[in-house]
Amino acid sequence: MRRGAVVQLVLFGLVAAAFATAVALGFHWLPDPASKQADRIFFLYWLATAISILVFSVVTAVLVYSIIHFRAAPDDHGDGPPIHGNTRLEIVWTLVPTLLVIVIGVASAIVLSRNSDAGTNPLIVNVTAEQFAWQFAYPHQGNVTAAELRLPLNRTVKLVMKSRDVIHSFWVPEFAQKQDVVPGITTTLVITPDRLGTFPVICTELCGLGHALMRSEAIVMQPAAFDAWAKKSSSAVAGGGPAAGKAVFQAQGCGACHTFKAAGATGKVGPDLDNIYKDAQLAGLSVPDFIRQSIVDPNAYVPPGFPKNVMPGNFGSLPKDQLDALINYLVPTSTKTVSP
Ligand code: CUA
Repeated sequence: MRRGAVVQLVLFGLVAAAFATAVALGFHWLPDPASKQADRIFFLYWLATAISILVFSVVTAVLVYSIIHFRAAPDDHGDGPPIHGNTRLEIVWTLVPTLLVIVIGVASAIVLSRNSDAGTNPLIVNVTAEQFAWQFAYPHQGNVTAAELRLPLNRTVKLVMKSRDVIHSFWVPEFAQKQDVVPGITTTLVITPDRLGTFPVICTELCGLGHALMRSEAIVMQPAAFDAWAKKSSSAVAGGGPAAGKAVFQAQGCGACHTFKAAGATGKVGPDLDNIYKDAQLAGLSVPDFIRQSIVDPNAYVPPGFPKNVMPGNFGSLPKDQLDALINYLVPTSTKTVSP
């Protein structure tokens, strides 16, 4: 091959590589990673991108060179001479892609295996998914439950996930992993958060009418702040009374959908809880019975103007003391004084 041809091929290849690299690096394609698992996954992404840029620039260089030098003359209507049987070329174009795919495959297998390793002492979080809410329970922190996922920084966490109805999927973009939550089986996900912050928890499986509302937050905290939160939440609930009811109301995120003045909640998705006395009358139940039914079996009676199947039924699985505290908290003060 002539020296000039090699120089031209290299030049075209460099231009193509520079263009592709600018597209890859010039945009903020990925969220900023916030876990060790995300770091590994994004490393794989960039490895595959680098290999793709290499292949793209070789192909582009040969294509552009051929278009310039082997173009048919305007009056040439014949086919070129048939070419077949170049063993050396065939070995090269088989071997190179095989090696590249093996590199990507082996690297992916290593990342997959390391990302599912929870180590010897992970923090266990029981995740329950239900149309259309997430619930997070901490069995080793006094069974504290919350509507948002709180995680201590740099501690490996194992999510143990169950669905109470249909298939949901757990996704935090900054953690880079997705895991389906499937009725009848328990799935797990290992996360080691390495950046403080609040990140969205998103359901990524179309699961019904409220799918788009099935969102929560993952809050990565300093370990000391996490411990303080867990201790405060479990003792607030254990203390009983209105403080316990308010703690459950806030932990379960009721205010995201309901208005309730006593808690400073202004949600508009579900019925206004300050009108609960009226709704109980319409349902023909005493106020406490109506509140209990609405939490445990929300579709039994839905106030006019609100669709069924939006209020999650998973709150019925709250520990009994938490459920009682919540119901007590929601009973309007005026009716409390009327009925003994
Ligand atoms: Cu749950 Cu979409």
